[in-house]
Amino acid sequence: MKVRTPIIDFVRAYSDSNALRMHMPGHKGGCFLGIENMDITEISGADNLYSPSGIIAESEEIAASLFGSAKTAYSTEGSSHVIRAMLYLTKVYAEREGKNKLILAARNAHKTFITAAAILDIDVAWLTPGDTASYLSCPIKSVESLRDEIAKYKPAALYLTTPDYLGGIQNLSGIKEICKQEGVLLLCDNAHGAYLRFLSPSMHPLDFGCDMCADSGHKTLPVLTPGAYFHMGKDIKPYLLDMQKTALSLFGTTSPSYLILESLDMANAYIADGYSERLGQFALFLDEEKEKLRESGISLIGDEPLKWTVKPKPCGFTGFELAEKLKDEYNIVAEFCDSDFTVFMLSECMQRDWILKLSSALITVLKSGREPIIDSPPKLHIPKAGMKPSSVIYSAGEYLPVSMAQGRVLCEINVSCPPAVPIAVCGEIIDRETIEIFRYYGIDRVKVI
Ligand SMILES: Cc1ncc(COP(=O)(O)O)c(C=O)c1O
Repeated sequence: MKVRTPIIDFVRAYSDSNALRMHMPGHKGGCFLGIENMDITEISGADNLYSPSGIIAESEEIAASLFGSAKTAYSTEGSSHVIRAMLYLTKVYAEREGKNKLILAARNAHKTFITAAAILDIDVAWLTPGDTASYLSCPIKSVESLRDEIAKYKPAALYLTTPDYLGGIQNLSGIKEICKQEGVLLLCDNAHGAYLRFLSPSMHPLDFGCDMCADSGHKTLPVLTPGAYFHMGKDIKPYLLDMQKTALSLFGTTSPSYLILESLDMANAYIADGYSERLGQFALFLDEEKEKLRESGISLIGDEPLKWTVKPKPCGFTGFELAEKLKDEYNIVAEFCDSDFTVFMLSECMQRDWILKLSSALITVLKSGREPIIDSPPKLHIPKAGMKPSSVIYSAGEYLPVSMAQGRVLCEINVSCPPAVPIAVCGEIIDRETIEIFRYYGIDRVKVI
């Protein structure tokens, strides 16, 4: 299927017209990078990101139909921007419906969520982790336990981060029904999962009834950093739909990047032109390669086709060592590493040859006969809250060595190593167990009150 690309078409025509640019930006279409001709501002005909009625509105409507949302808005400032807007709309919803200004959230939340909740003065209650919860992932204990927690906290929204940084995907089946019965909005940080919509069957949160969703197009689709989508689900209240752009405008720049808008526009054409089929084939190929790795004794975790999370300790390497070796000896650069994992993010627009090189390098490095490293990451521990994050964020605090921080309140937004699940978030009291976990992850000083 072919779809229109109104934004890029407009900008190309403008660039070809060789107009004398008596408007921003200051590079006037030339200068250093060679792409300045395509970098414009909101001139006549270029529409307006926060009240679109022309080329941006049309492009966003195409994106909405591809993603199957009630409405999709673009952001040129990442899922971080969208998450702030989702939380603002949650507060609007709470005010209007007489709900608690509280969000029930799984602990693997990105720091933007914590910051936004603090700035907007929204309380956060953390879901009680299930037995399998660790610093790697935070699956919901059970649908029944979720019902109990919703009954206990009466939140305005449930907030889930899925997929997480290590490729774990939350099982969303049955969750929407509970949220709907209780009048709770289902919000998803799907920053790592824009492409999930195009798998067969779709694994995208919108297809599990999510009400609002943040997707970083730039993380898994060929979109410039940090192009993102703000999707609204089909069940969303009309007044929230109407306020979507207002919510984004509260937190966004008044000079959105047209380069990023153009790439979001081009991504529609890329998706419409057989992406789903190509992705399906690529995912099958990746599965086969993963199977080969497993057969040769390499451990991989995670549920996401486009993320390979290798657990190198059984082969005698830390995640840091593996990433360093791959960089130094094979010029392969991983997305992330910590002591336990090395993460690779893949995309359908990669050549298959790259994957074969990665598999073969992993086998050569990891099967070189080292003794296993026998230790495992600590179990998830959520410290007690001591102060409201909304008051903590205005304190200057002081840095202390971790060994002297016991009993003090964390004054940083979160201590976020590894990125999957924060060890402590602002307002929580640092206890002995937290200190041990900080040490495991090599954190030696923290900011406290
Ligand atoms: C789980 C998660 N959520 C949100 C974000 C923020 O996304 P963005 O970089 O598009 O602002 C990130 C960034 O890495 C992330 O890992």
